[in-house]
Amino acid sequence: MAGEIITIQVGQCGNQVGKHFWSQLCREHGIDVDGQNQVPDDPNTPRSDDTNPFFKQNDRNRYTPRAIMIDLEPSAVQDVQNSFPDFFDSRNIWVSPEESGAGNSWSKGYDYGFAQQEEFLNMIDKEIDATENFEGFQLIHSVAGGTGSGLGSNLLEAISERYPRKFLASYSVFPSDESEVVIQPYNTILTMRRLAENSDASIVFDNNALLNLTTRVFRDPYTSYIHTNQLISAAMSSITNSIRFPSYMYNSLPSIFSTLVPTPELHFLTAGFTPFTSDYVVGGKDFKSNTAYDVLLDLFDDSNLLVTRQSDGTIYFNTYCTLVGQVEQSDVLKAISKAQQRLNFAPWSTSSLHVNVGRRSPYLPPQTKHTYVSGLMLSNTSAITSLFRGTCKMFDKIFSKGAFLNTFKDGRMFQNGWDEFTESREVVQNVVEEYSAAEQENYLDDVILEDENMVGNQSAQLDAEGDDII
Ligand code: GTP
Repeated sequence: MAGEIITIQVGQCGNQVGKHFWSQLCREHGIDVDGQNQVPDDPNTPRSDDTNPFFKQNDRNRYTPRAIMIDLEPSAVQDVQNSFPDFFDSRNIWVSPEESGAGNSWSKGYDYGFAQQEEFLNMIDKEIDATENFEGFQLIHSVAGGTGSGLGSNLLEAISERYPRKFLASYSVFPSDESEVVIQPYNTILTMRRLAENSDASIVFDNNALLNLTTRVFRDPYTSYIHTNQLISAAMSSITNSIRFPSYMYNSLPSIFSTLVPTPELHFLTAGFTPFTSDYVVGGKDFKSNTAYDVLLDLFDDSNLLVTRQSDGTIYFNTYCTLVGQVEQSDVLKAISKAQQRLNFAPWSTSSLHVNVGRRSPYLPPQTKHTYVSGLMLSNTSAITSLFRGTCKMFDKIFSKGAFLNTFKDGRMFQNGWDEFTESREVVQNVVEEYSAAEQENYLDDVILEDENMVGNQSAQLDAEGDDII
């Protein structure tokens, strides 16, 4: 049985994205918004899906998410609770009694996180007590507002210190270019330091790419977070498809991410998804039949990415795809060979495309008119640095003038000056440089592939040689 995963959603963005994630998981596991099984389990017929990684089972027909919701103001959490009455464990919900939010200040969020750290860790410990084979965490947050970034940063530090051997993944939403708040580059750089130092894998989204994609997917110029969040949750649910609908491969977070993270420093991942059928989004346009061949190749198209990339010469280090639907193996083989010709892989990389053929949930309505395949791609590429370089540029512009620093001056990290800013900026620079170095042929020459350098276990690492390719 796959290990349990605890989802921690922090701040407005974290909780709003989380709401769609749980909604998707409920649909895929036939669970109602109050946690009841839509079709009562038949004790003589075992389920073909595995609800245990993401849900506790209270009695035979009632499920509770392994989720923790944290916010400094109540509206997002309240909305989740209104949409899912009695679904979430009330012990796992924490909203600041002051209800004032962090006012977009990383520093305020971080200090709240510090003050409440023991309480949060107790909540997490209790949740871990309800597991048998606890595997790790996934954090959902934005890197730009005060709570998701600051409180989220403090949690990342606390979790990686308290549970160093457990996998810690993040789903991190970067702001759009048209930042609503001038200090967003500060918040982002400070948070990126924690993502670089404390997470094992960070799946990066940005609101520019998401908003562009929603306009296309929903054919509506007036899209909102309700739309963008469905795209993120489609990616999140697909990443975990092989865990929830188990097969003998990729049935744990480390086994998925070990195919993608060659060294601990290179753990910022890009997601692509296509097509967004009604299995994943409400109100998506109708799709004609397609094949695994079309989908696998389309996944590498910039227009299907959930993060902006501005690089003509993207260098791929690793890729992992999940296809769900009517998949013909011969189509997959043809597409792999075509993609390998088209994509530029780093010289030291195996050039493998890891492809998992996932299972479509039996609880979703049957495909009637058309048969189609949907696909998710996760890749580790040099192009992610365009987003980071852009953030650094905006940070440098305001920091060089000492602009807007007042918001931070009372924070506990800034009592002795602004070193935290310069150090965080340096950490982000090092990430960018590591990605550039990884484009070179000799990148792995001086990396000793010791166990502690690797994510996941040795057997999963062997898969990276390509023996799991279909
Ligand atoms: P405070 O409001 O300061 O307490 O922090 P917070 O973490 O709750 O703020 P929030 O999550 O609103 O973060 C702001 C950033 O997240 C901005 O860049 C927003 O554009 C983005 N954002 C907020 N909500 C959502 C959402 O539901 N989806 C997406 N994709 N982005 C969001």
